[in-house]
Amino acid sequence: MYGYSGRMFVYEVVGLQDSGDSNSPIRQSGSQRITVPYNRMSAIARSIKQRGGTIVSITPLGEASPTVQSPTTTPSPDAKSMIVHPPSNFEKVPVNTYKPKSPFVGKCTENYPLVREGGSGIVQHVTFDLSGSDLQYLEGQSIGIIPPGEDEKGKPHKLRLYSIASTRHGDFEDNKTISLCVRQLEYDHPETGERVYGVCSTHLCQLPVGSDVTITGPVGKEMLLPDDEDATVIMLATGTGIAPFRAFLWRMFKEQHQDYKFKGRAWLIFGVPYDANILYKDDFEKMAQDYPDNFRLTYAISREQKTAEGGKVYVQSRVSEYADELFELIQKPNTHVYMCGLKGMQPPISETFTQEAEKRGMNWDEMRKAMKKAHRWHVEVY
Ligand SMILES: Cc1cc2nc3c(=O)[nH]c(=O)nc-3n(C[C@H](O)[C@H](O)[C@H](O)COP(=O)(O)OP(=O)(O)OC[C@H]3O[C@@H](n4cnc5c(N)ncnc54)[C@H](O)[C@@H]3O)c2cc1C
Ligand SMILES: NC(=O)c1ccc[n+]([C@@H]2O[C@H](COP(=O)([O-])OP(=O)(O)OC[C@H]3O[C@@H](n4cnc5c(N)ncnc54)[C@H](OP(=O)(O)O)[C@@H]3O)[C@@H](O)[C@H]2O)c1
Repeated sequence: MYGYSGRMFVYEVVGLQDSGDSNSPIRQSGSQRITVPYNRMSAIARSIKQRGGTIVSITPLGEASPTVQSPTTTPSPDAKSMIVHPPSNFEKVPVNTYKPKSPFVGKCTENYPLVREGGSGIVQHVTFDLSGSDLQYLEGQSIGIIPPGEDEKGKPHKLRLYSIASTRHGDFEDNKTISLCVRQLEYDHPETGERVYGVCSTHLCQLPVGSDVTITGPVGKEMLLPDDEDATVIMLATGTGIAPFRAFLWRMFKEQHQDYKFKGRAWLIFGVPYDANILYKDDFEKMAQDYPDNFRLTYAISREQKTAEGGKVYVQSRVSEYADELFELIQKPNTHVYMCGLKGMQPPISETFTQEAEKRGMNWDEMRKAMKKAHRWHVEVY
């Protein structure tokens, strides 16, 4: 189904009590190598765990065969297939075309609400016209916005970063616009109890069409989408963390631009408080309908859905629920995992991956480090 069903992989395992397998010689490092067909990877990993073993590396057979190494380190998997290349139409990733001292002043062309009735808070889709600028950007990058006015010290406001929600071609495919997905920050002051509204997010959420907006950037190389049109892309988002994934999904399924024809697999796990807070819901559901073999959409609706234990359903609950499939996918050398949204999501998601890996005889810390090194693990939380 993913183009890997006929492939063989090599597990390097330490601590197996009795391999009973003359085909898995013990190596100098104390580890053993076991050749595993793709469709039996999870079952064999479980059996290794039951026999007291730990998998320290997984390598596609015939590719980058690992040399003798310490049993606690995972080799960098087949780097060739995993490096994220800048797209062919960019010599390199564009960064800081506009700096804070010389920003570009664009115009707001669209500003519409994304939260439906019954949802919580205000989130707007905001688009700016970039005509007359040299601002080019890639999916997964961010831009800076400098709000007008001064801070409490009388200094001009500093820039705030926002993930870009449109593809490099813009929402109208004319290479002239950029879009953001912005939540208005609002909270009760912890001492005075007074309602406080964020400076820049309020500026953006209330920006009238036709108004000026001061833009810097683009910045960021952490969240770039791989060039590989056959990649598997797993996206974990909370709230406005959906922004870069909207760009990815538009590029994959909506644009079908001549420079990129996605044929791989995409899986979005999206955490929101209420159904009415599912940003871009119709768009995503249409894509899932149109590309059922390529796009899987899973929600975690924390205040409406319940776990079997009666708790809130969060992104990490879904990671746990679908751990068998996720771990099978993650072991493929062209699977990328992205996490974006609330800072608070990172520790519980890491904890869930750690526990689920342990159940399968794997070491998540080593796996994550190897994925990070191979540019397959991407995190942007704020
Ligand atoms: C890489 C990156 C990408 C981002 N992408 C997006 C995006 O796509 N969409 C989006 O909406 N935002 C995004 N953000 C967040 C964004 O940059 C701003 O931080 C956010 O909009 C708030 O800015 P503000 O000017 O409205 O708030 P400010 O006026 O700057 O107020 C923020 C300050 O308020 C205080 N504060 C905030 N909450 C509370 C609380 N509950 N209790 C007490 N004090 C509090 C803190 O001191 C905080 O520093 C991103 C951030 C980063 C770093
Ligand atoms: N003032 C308002 O009206 C208002 C409204 C909505 C959000 N907010 C605040 O805005 C911030 C985020 O907004 P957003 O647009 O990015 O997201 P959002 O739309 O609020 O969605 C965030 C989702 O992530 C969940 N979540 C919270 N903590 C998590 C954790 N540690 N791990 C995994 N999931 C977690 C939330 O669940 P739960 O929230 O159900 O726990 C919710 O389902 C939050 O601080 C939120 O409190 C304010």
